[in-house]
Amino acid sequence: MSSHSPLLFHPLSPFLHLLLLPLFFTSVASQCKNPPVIFNFGDSNSDTGGLVAGLGFPVNLPNGRTFFHRSTGRLSDGRLLIDFLCQSLNASFLSPYLDSLGGSRFTNGANFAVVGSSTLPKYVPFSLNIQLMQFLHFKARALELATAGFGNFVTDEGLEMRFYIIDIGQNDIADSFSKKMSYAQVTKRIPSVILEIENAVKVLYNQGGRKFWIHNTGPLGCLPQKLALVQKKDLDPIGCISDFNSAARIFNEGLRRSCERMKSQFSGATIVYVDIYSIKYDLIANSSKYGFSSPLTACCGSGGPPYNYDIRVTCGRPGYQVCNEGSRYVSWDGIHYTEAANSIIASKVLSMAHSSPSIPFDFFCRN
Ligand SMILES: *[C@@H]1O[C@H](CO)[C@@H](O)[C@H](O)[C@H]1NC(C)=O
Ligand SMILES: *[C@@H]1O[C@H](CO)[C@@H](O)[C@H](O)[C@H]1NC(C)=O
Repeated sequence: MSSHSPLLFHPLSPFLHLLLLPLFFTSVASQCKNPPVIFNFGDSNSDTGGLVAGLGFPVNLPNGRTFFHRSTGRLSDGRLLIDFLCQSLNASFLSPYLDSLGGSRFTNGANFAVVGSSTLPKYVPFSLNIQLMQFLHFKARALELATAGFGNFVTDEGLEMRFYIIDIGQNDIADSFSKKMSYAQVTKRIPSVILEIENAVKVLYNQGGRKFWIHNTGPLGCLPQKLALVQKKDLDPIGCISDFNSAARIFNEGLRRSCERMKSQFSGATIVYVDIYSIKYDLIANSSKYGFSSPLTACCGSGGPPYNYDIRVTCGRPGYQVCNEGSRYVSWDGIHYTEAANSIIASKVLSMAHSSPSIPFDFFCRN
């Protein structure tokens, strides 16, 4: 774990490597009669409490203030994209796999996503590969327990109907930049990151998985944290870091092609690629149209405009400030999106306009 120990031992580092994603749904919700079984893999964009459960890392209010009215370990004021996706199917929120404190039910799946996760290096917590190994253990054990009569776990029949969400890659790209790699070095790493995702799908397919929902990565050059921390930067017309966004787009194009390849390679599999990047970029570029102001400014942070992000005083740490009108902000803490932004992102994801192939999300219902 030494190469990744910053996550474990540096109190700020989870906030340095995060990734996120959100979503919204009310108008398009198409609920399932029987909620599906969902397994999610990823980073902070979809961590519903894994970091707190696994490492005891404190995530306090004002995180969670909007919807949950308490901290749930999510790095946002409220719900994440994954939460809106679950709600759209009438499924309950996903419990973090690592949550050992009772009350967690895994009847509709489990969430393996943890803040700060990337695909590489492969053998450190909580890389995609580790999350995958956790899943394989979970599946075997859950079936044993279900057979023995424990009701809190997904059953054999439920597992038949499972589907997988994968949302990872942002930290691979962001970490490379923060390790001072050149743009050329960052982009050179991208194929091996995509290979990790492909390998994960292959492992899941080989043990029966047939339904996959894969998010690409967002415009990380638009995150207030990156904008505040990067010294020399070329900005694009909407004020985001060109290099970061360009690397994200190269990753996305590779991932899109990889999904195409996998579709022809894995017969009988449904693999949906979702363009989160274009959704988020539009949200930032056209923020006023969506009712947001200052899309590059964090709601919860310090330092004031333009980014309100200061590494010494981040959201939840002594001395931070939090805006009153969170629903007018795209960025919650400089890295993660607000619930209001996530809600719009979710509605766009569910609209199918950004999915390839255009398969409605309720395709994943159990019946
Ligand atoms: C959603 O789930 C609840 C309970 O979990 C159930 O009562 C309700 O009928 C479900 N909605 C639909 C549309 O099936
Ligand atoms: C902003 O909105 C306009 C009008 O809907 C659209 O044509 C344009 O593509 C959007 N910009 C981005 C960056 O998505």
